Amino acid sequence: MTTHPSLDAPPATAPALLAVRGLTCRFGDVVANDGVDFEVAAGEVHAVLGENGAGKSTLMKLIYGVYRPDAGEFHVNGVPTPLTSPAAARAAGIGMVFQDMRLVPAFTVAENIGLALPLRGPRFNRRRLSRDIAGAADRYGLPVHPDALVRHLSIGERQRVEILKVLMSGCRLLILDEPTSVLAPQEVDALFAAMRALRQAGLSLVIITHKLNEARAIADRVTVLRGGRVVLRNADPAGHTDAELVEAMVGRAVPPLARDRRTHEAAAPVVELSGVHVAGDRGHTALSGVDLTIRPGEVVGVAGVAGSGQRELCEVILGLRKTTEGTVRLAGRPVGRPRDAIAAGAVDIPEDPVTDAVVPGLTVLEHLALGDTPRRGLGIDWRAVAAGADKRDAATGLRMAARTRVLGELSGGNIQRVVLTRALGEPASVVVAAYPSRGLDIATTRRTQELLIEQRDAGAAVLVVSEDLDELLSISDRIAVLHDGHLAGVVRPAETDRYAIGQLMLGGVAA
Ligand SMILES: Nc1ncnc2c1ncn2[C@@H]1O[C@H](COP(=O)(O)OP(=O)(O)O)[C@@H](O)[C@H]1O
Ligand SMILES: [Mg+2]
Repeated sequence: MTTHPSLDAPPATAPALLAVRGLTCRFGDVVANDGVDFEVAAGEVHAVLGENGAGKSTLMKLIYGVYRPDAGEFHVNGVPTPLTSPAAARAAGIGMVFQDMRLVPAFTVAENIGLALPLRGPRFNRRRLSRDIAGAADRYGLPVHPDALVRHLSIGERQRVEILKVLMSGCRLLILDEPTSVLAPQEVDALFAAMRALRQAGLSLVIITHKLNEARAIADRVTVLRGGRVVLRNADPAGHTDAELVEAMVGRAVPPLARDRRTHEAAAPVVELSGVHVAGDRGHTALSGVDLTIRPGEVVGVAGVAGSGQRELCEVILGLRKTTEGTVRLAGRPVGRPRDAIAAGAVDIPEDPVTDAVVPGLTVLEHLALGDTPRRGLGIDWRAVAAGADKRDAATGLRMAARTRVLGELSGGNIQRVVLTRALGEPASVVVAAYPSRGLDIATTRRTQELLIEQRDAGAAVLVVSEDLDELLSISDRIAVLHDGHLAGVVRPAETDRYAIGQLMLGGVAA
């Protein structure tokens, strides 16, 4: 591994490895970073906390030279250093692993890493590169096979390749943008162990997250961003309660989710899947042999590594996808088409609202009129639709955008509020919610969780797919874990933990 001279041998006073002052970055009217001061000490793990849209990725992309600031300056080891391109950042010893990973799937691990390394002249050869990779992998506890094709690797393995790639190009400061959002709990532990080994080796690390337990588990110090500004800087996480950190992130207190754990064991299931096989879009078997029931007044959470059959499970319940074997029943009647699910009173929060819920050109109000539409004579009764919208808005408290706005022109979070208001504003008999809190701020996420619980308490059978195990553990009566299209297990939150679920997600058997 090479290190860059500018970052070696800090002067006696040891200024911060990296310090940024007054960074401002605007995108049109949005001030994504507003006079941000931020610093990273040598040999520390620094967590940057903040809600969606707080400006965390922007700050890191400014540091890595992807964006140019409108104002502000960078100091590396106390020396003013313009970071005007990723190449300049790398030359200053800064490396970054992006939220969306950027490997070439058709290449091997070694080829991907080789691509990122500076040309090494005549002494460069494949065998030597493989040996270097194996050595670095071993040293930091980031196991990879240099000759494996990237497209055969799991997301956790790809992430390790990304990290090795950045490390081997000689960085001293490693930035990880939300690295845990794609990982199972065991993989998060392994990543944190590797991060500790890197810190031990003298590197500095910045990790972006919005999960407090992760910041507590790994970070020496935290900085909190809100609305593009720093609201808490260089704080010791142990010196702050969760409530204080959430308040810093959100700007006000967010009460914990309150819920009644009583269940309705006696009632007959509303949702019944038996022996369900479903083909996926690529012709593969997306679900195989799934047996699952949901009773009225029950929330069943669905956990699984992305792409384990979650989408197909929701679609087959909603009649949007046919079974190749087995049956789906809602309230005792077989479901084969969307209208069967609608007739059974099912509502849907789709995984990808922009593609699945937005009709181009239609306004917010027009979207609320889709589906269960009040009619007057031959036309739509717009007054009744508007009254219904008011009622749903009041019931959910999600503060939808103005009714006359074109839905497709709103931000993802505002589109999601409309989708949630339409689905959850009135009691339903079946709720199928795919990633309901994706893209939402913390307070709206909490309100959405309450609405799902309210649906349950009003007697709905609720299915919730989420990648956030803490969310599933707090809102579910039972959690169904999918692995590769199979139901790997169904567990109760009170009788399990993140690790047991993680083991099922990764294909292990229940302990
Ligand atoms: N390339 C971009 N173009 C326009 N707006 C952007 C861009 N990147 C980020 N933003 C906006 O800047 C704000 C901060 O975004 P971001 O830094 O991605 O937040 P975070 O990573 O904390 O979720 C958001 O309002 C976002 O929509
Ligand atoms: Mg981000």
